[in-house]
Amino acid sequence: MSTCKLTFKSTFLCLVITALLAADTYSQKPLPAETAAQKEQRMSWWNHDRFGMFIHWGLYSLPARHEWVKRYELMTNEQYQPYFSLFDPDQYNPKAWALKAKTAGMRYAVLTTKHHEGFCLFDSKYTDYKSTNTPARRDLVKEYVDAFRAQGMKVGFYYSLIDWHHPDFTVDELHPLAHNGITEAEYAALNKGRDMAKYRQYIRNQITELLTKYGKIDILWLDFSYPNKNGHGKGKEDWGALELLRLIRKLQPGIIVDNRLDLGDTPGAEDFETPEQVKATELVKYRGKTWETCQTFSGSWGYHRDENTWKTPKQVLDLLITSVANGGNLILNVGPTARGEFDFRANRALDSLAYWMHANEKSIYGCTYAPAEIKAGDDVRYTYNPKTKRLYVHLFDYKPGEISLPGLKDKVKYAQFLNDNSELIIQKNKGDGNSLVLTLPRSKPPYSVPVIELILL
Ligand code: GLC
Repeated sequence: MSTCKLTFKSTFLCLVITALLAADTYSQKPLPAETAAQKEQRMSWWNHDRFGMFIHWGLYSLPARHEWVKRYELMTNEQYQPYFSLFDPDQYNPKAWALKAKTAGMRYAVLTTKHHEGFCLFDSKYTDYKSTNTPARRDLVKEYVDAFRAQGMKVGFYYSLIDWHHPDFTVDELHPLAHNGITEAEYAALNKGRDMAKYRQYIRNQITELLTKYGKIDILWLDFSYPNKNGHGKGKEDWGALELLRLIRKLQPGIIVDNRLDLGDTPGAEDFETPEQVKATELVKYRGKTWETCQTFSGSWGYHRDENTWKTPKQVLDLLITSVANGGNLILNVGPTARGEFDFRANRALDSLAYWMHANEKSIYGCTYAPAEIKAGDDVRYTYNPKTKRLYVHLFDYKPGEISLPGLKDKVKYAQFLNDNSELIIQKNKGDGNSLVLTLPRSKPPYSVPVIELILL
């Protein structure tokens, strides 16, 4: 300032520069400080509970052929409009959803308040493109929050950073208006008059609504950044990510936020990693990190009528057990129909989880990977509860007779099946001096993956 000569013109210029610098400093301001112990405390329920339900619901449940249908079929807003006009979920009963989730052993849920299509399931002041203006005529997010909270579940919001309906969201490589082989001139023409600064403000406004009008929100799942798309992607600058995260933490200090804001370089900005649709065998890579794998029952997140590659109950259990066996969480997705229900395939899958979890949930909650010296062989996955010092042996390939568990000799006080607490006799004089030997009964307990509970010395 002092170096400026105080003519009218230079004063004005000085003020502008100072303001710009201030704005820049503001966006560089660090996140609120948090000690490791405070962070552990904030994350403790999430690290304990391990298992959640993802819910992808929006207008795409009407075409019922993937939540990216608008992009995959390069639809205009006009072509997509019938789904808005006809959205009438007459069977929507989030109490039934919450009960189903809870019975399946899920302890938290995350609902798409807005997906990439831009449609809002909540009554936002900042758009007309919302459920209250469809035949549904109500704030569907509010009912979801109330129902899940009433079941004692933690409540999360998914919010798409991408928006294929908003007039200020610039057309980029993933946008439905960007056809294959689009030229720079076409981009320029499509983006004339679009203003990301206004869209950034729209995000801030909506996040403020979501984090102030619905009570305590436990998780915010923001989706997603793609900065490297030949100059036509989007990342942290586009979202005003750091400033947005500061706002989120101010409005809901206890909230847990995912890692898709493109803030990987900012210490403390990402609460958990989000490996998407990875195979169970790949999860070992994430040991030691804080993570949640998100998975569908079939290939699509939104309701997909004709997608029939559903995972078997055992494959789903494998994902759950292997997640915990590697110290992470699983969030499993349901895409309700346009009438607002879970379809029969989802119900069947959730019922089978409920059956297993009823008997075996102790090997999931509060558990993580086993101490390093205990190595599981093929077809066995260990989870471990460090508080109770119990080790859980998941038998993916049950064979009656002797089972030998390396590294466990003289480390175990007592062994039993988890589903009924029936004793498994330890064969003290058998084994190679290193292995614990148990005898498994002829008939397999009635679970696709039975669990042995070992009480460690
Ligand atoms: C992807 C997809 C999206 C889905 C999400 C869940 O980013 O774009 O449709 O919501 O993954 O992880």
